[in-house]
Amino acid sequence: MHINRVSARTISDTRGRKTIETTLFTDEFEATASIPSGKSTGSKEAKELRDEDGSVTTAIHNVTGEIATVLSEHNFSTIRELDTFLCELDGTQDKSRLGANAILSVSIAMSRLFAQEAHIPLWRFIADTAGTTPASPRLFVNVMNGGAHAGFRLPIQEQILVIGEKTLKESVTVAHEAFSELGDMLRNELVDLPMGDEGGYSPSFDTIERPFELLSTIVSKRNNTSIAIDSAANELLDGNEYVLLKKRYTPTQLLELYTQLVKRFHFHAIEDPFAESDKQSFAEITKKLGKEVIIIGDDLIVTNPKLIEDAVEHKYINATLIKPNQIGTVSQTIDAVHKTYDAGWRAVVSHRSGETYDTFIADLAYGIGAHGIKAGGLAQQQRLAKYERLRTIECEATELSD
Ligand code: PGA
Ligand code: ZN
Repeated sequence: MHINRVSARTISDTRGRKTIETTLFTDEFEATASIPSGKSTGSKEAKELRDEDGSVTTAIHNVTGEIATVLSEHNFSTIRELDTFLCELDGTQDKSRLGANAILSVSIAMSRLFAQEAHIPLWRFIADTAGTTPASPRLFVNVMNGGAHAGFRLPIQEQILVIGEKTLKESVTVAHEAFSELGDMLRNELVDLPMGDEGGYSPSFDTIERPFELLSTIVSKRNNTSIAIDSAANELLDGNEYVLLKKRYTPTQLLELYTQLVKRFHFHAIEDPFAESDKQSFAEITKKLGKEVIIIGDDLIVTNPKLIEDAVEHKYINATLIKPNQIGTVSQTIDAVHKTYDAGWRAVVSHRSGETYDTFIADLAYGIGAHGIKAGGLAQQQRLAKYERLRTIECEATELSD
C-alpha cells in the first residue's frame, strides 16, 4: 500500500474538546479516522498527546510531518507491519512521544484503506486479520449517566440496558423504544432531567436502587433485555474506601452492596466494580458472583495484552472491555481480543465518553464477534452513528452471504 498524501485537522468531540481527524490518500482511495477521548481513564492507558492549552496541534504535526514522511517512504503490506513500525518510530511504552491519538488515527485510516483495496467491508477485514468469526454484538446502552460523566448526580457511572434481539435492526429499535419510555418515566418523577456526557439521561435520586427499579420495569416487559452497570470505581475511591451518595463503603461492604443488587435486579454484567489499585477485591467479586454475572475489566486492564494476561492469571475478572485508544493501534487491540478469547472470556467493545462520528468500533465489535458493544445513549448523533453503522453492517453481511 503506497500512501501519497496525508492530511490531519482538529475537530470537536461530543464534549466540545478538540481531537484529531486524519485522512490518508492512495492513488485510488482515501480513508479518514477520528479519535475519541476518555474522562474516567485508567492510569496505564496509552497517552493521547494534548498541548497545554488542550489542543491537539502537536499530534496533528506528528501525523502530517514525521509519520507522513515514513508513510511516503515505505510500502506496508499488512496493518501489523504498519503498527509495529509506528510503535518503533514512537519509541516509548505508552506512545507518549507521537501520541496514541496520532498513531491510532493512522492505524484506523490505514485499516480502512486495506479494506477498500480488497473490496471488502471493514468488519470483514478485521475478522480476516484477527482470525475471528463475525457476529452481532449485544447493545450495552448507557441509558442513565452518572459518575464523572454527569457531575456524580448518580454515583454509578453507567446504568446500562443490555439488548440482544435476533437482529441488530431489532435491537436498535428496542433501544430507541426503551430509551424513550425511560425518558417519559423520568420526566413523570422529576422536575429536572439533565443529560450526561454519553448521551443518556442524568437524573438525581436519593437511593442507589432507584435507577434499577425503573430499569426493571422496562426489562420486565421485554424478553431479551437485562441490566448492567459500569461503576468506574476509580472515581469512587477515597483513601481505602468508596463513596456513593456521600456514604462510605469498605471494599467488603461494597461487595455486599453488589451482591444485594445482583440478587434483586439480576444484573447481566458489572464493569470496574472496584478501583484498578484494588485488585484483591476484583478477584473476590469474580469468585463470588462471576458465575451469574459477567465481571468486566476496563481501567484495570486498559486493552493492554500484558495486563489482560495478568488478569487471566489472577482471575481478577472474566471479561474485558476493548477500547482501541487505550492501547493505540488496531493490531494491539486485536492482540487484546486474542488474550481475552484465549482465556475463554468475553469481549465488550467500547466507545469513549468524548466521541466523534467515527464508527470503527461498530466494525470492530461485529468483526471480532464481540459479546457486546458500548456506544452510549441515544441522545447524541455521534453515538447514533455507531448504531446506524451496525445496522448497515448487518445488511452488508446478508449481501455477502447471498
Ligand atoms: P471514559 O469512560 O471514556 O470517560 O473513560 C468510559 C468507561 O469508563 O467505560
Ligand atoms: Zn468503564
